[in-house]
Amino acid sequence: MPRDLESEKATLEGMPPLSKESEAGPPDPTPLYFLPTEVMDPKFKKMKDLHPYSLLLNQEDLDECDWLEHVAFDPHEAASREKLDYRLHVCGELCTGIFTSSYATAPPPLGPLLRSRTFPGIDSSDSDRKKVLLGHIIATKHAAPLVTDASMDFPKDWRQKYQMTPSAGHNEDGQTICLHSLAIHPDFQGRGLGKVLLKGFTQRMRDSGVAKRVALICHERFVAFYEACGYRKVGPSDCTYAGGGWFDMAIDFEGLKDDPDF
Ligand SMILES: CC(C)(COP(=O)(O)OP(=O)(O)OC[C@H]1O[C@@H](n2cnc3c(N)ncnc32)[C@H](O)[C@@H]1OP(=O)(O)O)[C@@H](O)C(=O)NCCC(=O)NCCS
Repeated sequence: MPRDLESEKATLEGMPPLSKESEAGPPDPTPLYFLPTEVMDPKFKKMKDLHPYSLLLNQEDLDECDWLEHVAFDPHEAASREKLDYRLHVCGELCTGIFTSSYATAPPPLGPLLRSRTFPGIDSSDSDRKKVLLGHIIATKHAAPLVTDASMDFPKDWRQKYQMTPSAGHNEDGQTICLHSLAIHPDFQGRGLGKVLLKGFTQRMRDSGVAKRVALICHERFVAFYEACGYRKVGPSDCTYAGGGWFDMAIDFEGLKDDPDF
């Protein structure tokens, strides 16, 4: 049927002229960072000036992760640089960083921290603005349902002979994400970053469908923290890493979609 161009012309002529002005409606909600501090939820108030953002990690982040791991953990518990290199290299998609950006002239604690070592730049047109890793999660996948000593290890010949399903280290077919390291820089602990990073990570892992659960080991003093983030205490762990004495914690993704927190 031929188009009725006359009637289309009449319809167009009857329409109001296009304008760049938006129709009057409710104003946009004030962005979180513009809210006066007094009316913000206390949990956001604590991190207000940081404007944190998350990114996946990869081997280019090795220097920063190595630095953070060793300032956050006791030396005998921190993962070695070589182990971090392996994990960032073979499964960076399971590793997340929480960052901020700032200048060496910023007030404490960011300014003094930025003056204490060299941080990578974030903006090629502004070399003074630096990218600061405030926290990270480093993880691998494994076949067992809980973290084991083998999952915490890594194949020493991984550079020469990469295997998809080695007995030690990252197993591409594993259905358990083993969270080996959750670390927030000591200067920024207690501001909600650990919880935000862990919950965001758990949600992303669940939504990506790469595994059925996340498992980790922790000392008893951190059990309450992980429980507050949705993890359940399984019991004493068989892991002997760094002298043992760990508790197994896990979160299963099945049924998690019904949890309003996720
Ligand atoms: C554990 C760690 C990641 C927590 O990060 P954080 O940013 O300081 O924690 P948050 O500020 O997000 O705390 C979130 C909540 O957990 C609580 N919490 C923090 N640490 C806790 C602990 N050790 N035990 C119980 N609750 C804790 C906070 O009070 C807060 O409660 P709220 O939501 O009711 O206010 C951080 O302390 C850290 O990096 N420690 C050193 C490395 C380490 O030991 N990692 C754990 C390995 S198992």
